[in-house]
Amino acid sequence: MDKFVIGGGRKLYGSVRAQSAKNSVLPLLAASVLTEEPVVIHETPPITDVFSMAEILRGLGAEVKFCGEDAVIDCSRASVHRIPPSLTRELRSSVFMLGSLLARFRRAACAYPGGCDIGLRPIDLHLNALKRLGVEIREREGYITCACTQLKGAEIVLDFPSVGATENILLAAVRAEGTTTLYGAAKEPEIVDLQNFLNAMGAKVRGAGTDVIAIEGVERLHGVRFTPVKDRIEAGSLLIACAICGGEVEVEGVRGETLGLLLHKLRENGCKIHTKNDKIRIAGTGRLKCNRRIETMPYPGFPTDLQAQMTALNAGAEGDCLIVENLFETRYKYVPELMKMGADIEVRGRNAFVRGAERLHGASVTCGDLRGGAALILAALGAEGESEVLDLSHVDRGYAAFEQKLTSLGAAVKRVRI
Ligand code: UD1
Repeated sequence: MDKFVIGGGRKLYGSVRAQSAKNSVLPLLAASVLTEEPVVIHETPPITDVFSMAEILRGLGAEVKFCGEDAVIDCSRASVHRIPPSLTRELRSSVFMLGSLLARFRRAACAYPGGCDIGLRPIDLHLNALKRLGVEIREREGYITCACTQLKGAEIVLDFPSVGATENILLAAVRAEGTTTLYGAAKEPEIVDLQNFLNAMGAKVRGAGTDVIAIEGVERLHGVRFTPVKDRIEAGSLLIACAICGGEVEVEGVRGETLGLLLHKLRENGCKIHTKNDKIRIAGTGRLKCNRRIETMPYPGFPTDLQAQMTALNAGAEGDCLIVENLFETRYKYVPELMKMGADIEVRGRNAFVRGAERLHGASVTCGDLRGGAALILAALGAEGESEVLDLSHVDRGYAAFEQKLTSLGAAVKRVRI
């Protein structure tokens, strides 16, 4: 298990390019099952979630190779429709496989999914939608078994704009008989990316990025070469790192408007931000002011995946801040670790009350989930003295060689094998 040793207090300068979006690449890998022809995903980030998804595909009989930055997937010989529980529990995105397996084989089976331990994370919206498409579902002893004779287009209403459920519906409906109309869809850029990918395979999907998506089923899909959208959460994390440390950083590959309210919040903190096309430049100017309130919302609201990092920023800024987490019930597990660094935070249910400290100090802290882990790393970068951040397996799920990006900007971060 690796750890980071971080020397706090260095300003960050330079420019970095965002990796491809984890939350795009994972559903694209799931979508590759929809065709017997080869699929090439360019600029695939070497993160462990991608490798777990590749293992799932191999378990189905597919061939997955990584050639440089390309993932080359050949599902022509995929014949297994059952995902082993060990892999499903490791990766929540394996649930997307239900939609694409049903489209390809009319059958699918997996255990209840895993992923970050940040709340209950039910999958009722996924399963109800699949039922609307004509799928019969049995749930027994933590295992879900799905079958249908033919997927049939339908009208589906999501009571909440779930990202995963929206993607699963797209993956199933592209090869259904007739048209599916999805109301209340999630609107994330990664869903637009999935639409573009599917259409490049010959699907007929329109409306992604709005809350109504129409999917006209087609008989077959063909191979595709595709470069995914860049990772707005990784980009946001790097911008927050610069805000916390001071200095001047440019992040390339992500458009400002895809970061929800992040840029607005960073300006409230006192940072100077300049955007041009897909470049965002931030300058941290001395002591930061706390945000009054940050409330996470479905896209285009403030992203829950940047909540922990902004809590870390506010913990070392001037004033008080209220954080409201509306998406996941237990997404404050990193708070006790942040408090070891001198943060003053009180968590009550969905709310975290942050009283800004003069400055955080170095400590030994342990990551418990992906974004919480990133928050601890950012806090350590801005803290006084040395920190060790333990159990990087969570962070490695979503950030490719995070230490290299940070050191290229001048941070003192060393990965140590323990
Ligand atoms: C995706 C992202 C994750 C991000 C989240 C919210 C991927 C691989 N992961 O996760 O990084 O934090 O969107 O932006 O893209 N819900 C239900 N029933 C369901 C499905 C969801 O009640 O069937 C609830 C969840 O418990 C949660 C909320 O809906 O409270 C949002 O979940 P959802 O949008 O589905 O998130 P994920 O797709 O799991």
